[in-house]
Amino acid sequence: MEILQVLHMNNGEGETSYAKNSNIQRKIISVTNSRLEEAILNIMCNNKKVPESIGVADLGCSSGPNALMVVTEIIDIIDATCRKSGSSFPELRISLNDLPGNDFNEIFRSLPAFFQKIKEEKGSESCYVAGVPGSFYGRLFPLKSLHFVHSSSSLHWLSRVPLGLGINARTALNKGKLYISKTSPSEVINAYVSQFQKDFSSFLRSRSPEIIPGGRMLLSLMGRSSIDPTIEDGCYYQWELLAHALSTLVSKGLVDEEKIDSFNAPYYAPCPEELKITVEKEGSFMINHIDAFEIEWDANISSNSPAQCEDKKILLSRGQQVAKTIRAVVESMVESHFGNEIMDDLFSVYSDLVDDYVYKKRAIYVNLVVSLTRKD
Ligand SMILES: C[S@@+](CC[C@H](N)C(=O)[O-])C[C@H]1O[C@@H](n2cnc3c(N)ncnc32)[C@H](O)[C@@H]1O
Repeated sequence: MEILQVLHMNNGEGETSYAKNSNIQRKIISVTNSRLEEAILNIMCNNKKVPESIGVADLGCSSGPNALMVVTEIIDIIDATCRKSGSSFPELRISLNDLPGNDFNEIFRSLPAFFQKIKEEKGSESCYVAGVPGSFYGRLFPLKSLHFVHSSSSLHWLSRVPLGLGINARTALNKGKLYISKTSPSEVINAYVSQFQKDFSSFLRSRSPEIIPGGRMLLSLMGRSSIDPTIEDGCYYQWELLAHALSTLVSKGLVDEEKIDSFNAPYYAPCPEELKITVEKEGSFMINHIDAFEIEWDANISSNSPAQCEDKKILLSRGQQVAKTIRAVVESMVESHFGNEIMDDLFSVYSDLVDDYVYKKRAIYVNLVVSLTRKD
């Protein structure tokens, strides 16, 4: 599976699009607000003088309402700081990066309204936005061109399926599973751990020459709280349930069992210690903070507190909501392996399984937020 070709969020603005099903990721962005503000203030006040031109990049920006959300928040923080200090609004060079399959056109179409708003609200016309297609696991920007790099809900995607676990592997090591599971042999766990270390290290090595000394980076990604990767938190159980849904379709004759055995997700949810070790080993960045926070699978539904959901009907709708969120993210990849014909059945079975799960357990994602400074 060539990740560059098959991984993209569901395009457009239809029922299954990322644009319509990305409230969880939106919530994750808003939780990191105070860290964002701290990083931007630090950049602006570092030399006691607001820089004339500020380079900002959002990596894995996707499309839809979230694509310009962080950038808008950054502009608000810069504007408030300039007003307080009586400085003029700096020139902003904003780069929006994602893989080439991303719906960049959707973002470009929303730019005229975005520029108009900045002009009216901030009185600035010197904001330049560019789309940068390519993998953030390699170089994307010129030397020392960035003051701030942001990435949200993206770095848990690996650059490839871990070595030995791809569709061409001679033996299926992770039978019946799509990700690390309690039944996964140690080879599977080690392959995932080492792919993450390699990728995260390449990410840091690629950003290191692009960010000015003292520049900042704020990264949020799915993670886990325990050192043990088979612990039932983070996204771990989402993959378990998706594997379960696929085996239900095997029993209905809609999917070949071998197809499940040969699929392993290019995904990894690290624990804080793994992030820390990789950053320290690469050596270009200093860690300011690593925070972990929990977010419920269905935090995008407004009245979803379990106490209010005694009625199984409401719980069913929780499962459907979670299924829509997951479908918008993983469908392109799952479809390329299992075929388009089974997608509706798959996510319908999946939503029932999620319903049962959230009825019995507190289903949470663990999100890690790491704030870094480029060393001098
Ligand atoms: C769940 S979306 C997050 C989008 C947005 N940041 C948000 O918070 O709503 C993850 C994005 O990461 C992108 N992505 C995954 N791997 C990538 C890579 N190696 N390089 C660039 N973008 C990548 C995906 O294409 C996808 O658009």
